Amino acid sequence: MAYREIGIEDTDQVRTITIKRENPLNPITIDLLSEIQDAVSNSGERIIIITGSNKAFSAGADIKGFMDMDSAKAYSFAMKGHEIMNFFNSYPRPIIAAIHGFALGGGFELALACDMRVAHPATVFGLPEITLGILPGFGGTQRLTKIAGEGRAMDLIGRGLRFNAQEALSMGIVNYIAEDYLGKSMEIAVDFAAKPIQSLKFVKHLVRSRPDDMYSMEAEYFARSFDHPDRKAGISAFLEKKPARFAQRKQ
Ligand code: COA
Repeated sequence: MAYREIGIEDTDQVRTITIKRENPLNPITIDLLSEIQDAVSNSGERIIIITGSNKAFSAGADIKGFMDMDSAKAYSFAMKGHEIMNFFNSYPRPIIAAIHGFALGGGFELALACDMRVAHPATVFGLPEITLGILPGFGGTQRLTKIAGEGRAMDLIGRGLRFNAQEALSMGIVNYIAEDYLGKSMEIAVDFAAKPIQSLKFVKHLVRSRPDDMYSMEAEYFARSFDHPDRKAGISAFLEKKPARFAQRKQ
């Protein structure tokens, strides 16, 4: 596959995949995720670092594209995202997200799908989908709950809160904060590379596998949010840079 949205740098043991979209906020698309999946699976089983460029790791899915998406397309969009992000679980070696700038929406979900996260101190995190009248669709409801616990996930996802790197560290969402977040990620990757391959593979499988995750339910609810008028209210308010007004009760 020829890569248009990512760059690749290899050492003997580590592959660094850099998201390099034309838009400086690095919006997530299925094409981008497919390139990342291809680059991971063809890495020769190297340890993987995924990082951003320009202003962001990624500010999330392309919101403009959500304006005219129907629920059937939303469902296949979410299922494709799940397929790619769940593939990270089955990849036998560790995948580290090296994060800076913004990690929002699908961008944060991509980081959550990695095995570990290292953040620059000025990173802004969040799953703001609810403020757009939708909800996370790439596994964020499951992974953030698993990592940070139900109460925090309800607060962060249910209110669409943004939070900083120090807060992410205190909630166990990031493993380390470092000015040189790429250098720190490489240091961890090199340490992983020195560990016995089979033991590390088994550890990853045991740490990451949860048979009861509700990913397909999340995709269904994500799609249903596209049938609700609040989705157009939320997205058009974002694009017009106005506060969104949602229906207060079931009509
Ligand atoms: N998808 C597509 N376009 C996006 C985008 C996204 N996820 N995030 C921002 N943009 C666009 C904005 O619409 C704006 O376009 P314009 O220049 O045509 O008006 C441009 O990128 C710059 O965004 P702006 O909000 O003006 O920049 P900022 O530096 O003030 O803020 C963010 C940056 C990331 C904090 C802010 O853009 C934001 O909150 N984005 C939405 C994040 C989000 O909700 N992600 C989840 C999506 S499901």
